[in-house]
Amino acid sequence: MKKILFVSSEVVPFIKTGGLADVAGSLPKYFNKEEFDVRVILPKYLCMSDEWKSKLNYVTHFYMDLAWRSQYVGVLEMKYDGIQFYFIDNEYYFAGPKPYGNIYQDIEKFAFFSKAALSMLPVIDFKPDIVHCHDWQTGLIPVLLKDKFHEGEFFRDMKSIITIHNLKFQGVWDMKTVKDITGLPSYYFTPDKLEAYGDANYLKGGIVYADAVTTVSDTYAEEIKTPFYGERLDGLMRARAGSLFGIVNGIDYNEYNPETDTFIEKNYNAKNFRKEKIKNKRALQRELGLTQNDGTFLVGIVSRLTDQKGFDLIAYMMEEMCQQDIQFVVLGTGDEKYENMFRYFAWKYPGKVSANIFYSEALSHKIYASCDAFLMPSLFEPCGLSQLMSLRYGTLPIVRETGGLKDTVIPYNEYEGTGTGFSFANYNAHEMFFTLKYAMSVYYDRKREWNKLIDRAMAADFSWASSARKYEALYRKLLGE
Ligand code: ADP
Ligand code: GLC
Repeated sequence: MKKILFVSSEVVPFIKTGGLADVAGSLPKYFNKEEFDVRVILPKYLCMSDEWKSKLNYVTHFYMDLAWRSQYVGVLEMKYDGIQFYFIDNEYYFAGPKPYGNIYQDIEKFAFFSKAALSMLPVIDFKPDIVHCHDWQTGLIPVLLKDKFHEGEFFRDMKSIITIHNLKFQGVWDMKTVKDITGLPSYYFTPDKLEAYGDANYLKGGIVYADAVTTVSDTYAEEIKTPFYGERLDGLMRARAGSLFGIVNGIDYNEYNPETDTFIEKNYNAKNFRKEKIKNKRALQRELGLTQNDGTFLVGIVSRLTDQKGFDLIAYMMEEMCQQDIQFVVLGTGDEKYENMFRYFAWKYPGKVSANIFYSEALSHKIYASCDAFLMPSLFEPCGLSQLMSLRYGTLPIVRETGGLKDTVIPYNEYEGTGTGFSFANYNAHEMFFTLKYAMSVYYDRKREWNKLIDRAMAADFSWASSARKYEALYRKLLGE
């Protein structure tokens, strides 16, 4: 049995701010259980729902040195959906209304988390063959494995992988403070190791020291070797190209299933969507106060409202888009300028634009199920899960051809009768608008073609089935099998 440990700062269903949580919570379920024992470690945040917190079982606690401090490490556990989860408890670090706060606090919080995740392993007697880290929050783990932990027999042969879910966030702070927090010697703080542009950089440390680096789509794996997408680490990505692999994300096909989804008004499937999907649209229009009309082109957005997701293009075109025979339903939180932009258009065009500036699992499912199209014109997108959820519910994605969006949405080709959505190449507001209008023309004038697009979208397979096999192959390769 090969033992794998996932370490992640967020994991569904316990705590989520974005797609990382979906991946860390669903992928472990899809490994071959005969061959792999995959367990998951995450922080026990105060902001987790009481329902989950009350179900955790106390395992043990100990004190751990973090540089000159000695800190409490509580370990709790829970088995859920066949997976063993461990939670690291420390009320000083994991208090606060959200998992992430100020970067200077987060820098210390995740130094603690990374070291605690390793330190607890001998205590609970679980010795993974591979520690699979996710994003900058766990970037110190591959470094620590090469440092002090390497001296002990327990950790010596342990391999590490780091998966980059978003290269934009690197965990950067000044070297003096990071030395003080981590207690790592000056040896590590040079430009070929943790240092980048004069600062300490957790993600860089992870990328330098991990035995393999993966990211969440093939196209993003290529893009990050270029200056435009490389976030100033493109040189390092090129240097590590031989150990850098793109493995596209999947989604949990049991959680996101229009046939069994309990959040939505009316269940449907690839056979009966022509009759049944519309009932969700009616219910959503009613619920959100949009004009009741079966025939109006309804566009959904579920997203963090940040520049990454292309909201400056949407802001630029919103007035003009609202002149069309169209309705928008937006669900998201993020930059105030975008929150207010959608509030403004909802005020100006009641019945046409619905702005829901909050977080809601339930409403997100209703949007994926009810809309005709899903708009996601990202500036960059490591993978993107929302477009996969849309495909699964027969809601056609309109995307920019970048990262995982390019790898998962096949643009409609009206001559060949192929494609699962609509896409455009350049980061340009008018290209987006043109593509949206093209999608509308197919929707309004060629309904049979539109429905065939839905047929193909719903037949696309982005369950974890094939990507989990690729991670398994990588694990075997790393273990020399
Ligand atoms: P990212 O991780 O960059 O935010 P992804 O597309 O990979 O983007 O994943 C986003 C996830 O977060 C999806 O599961 C999406 O449904 C969910 N999500 C984003 N905003 C909200 C919201 N306001 N309410 C509910 N779910 C949301
Ligand atoms: C990040 C990326 C997103 C990706 C998710 C899960 O948040 O922004 O594109 O789908 O991680 O890998």
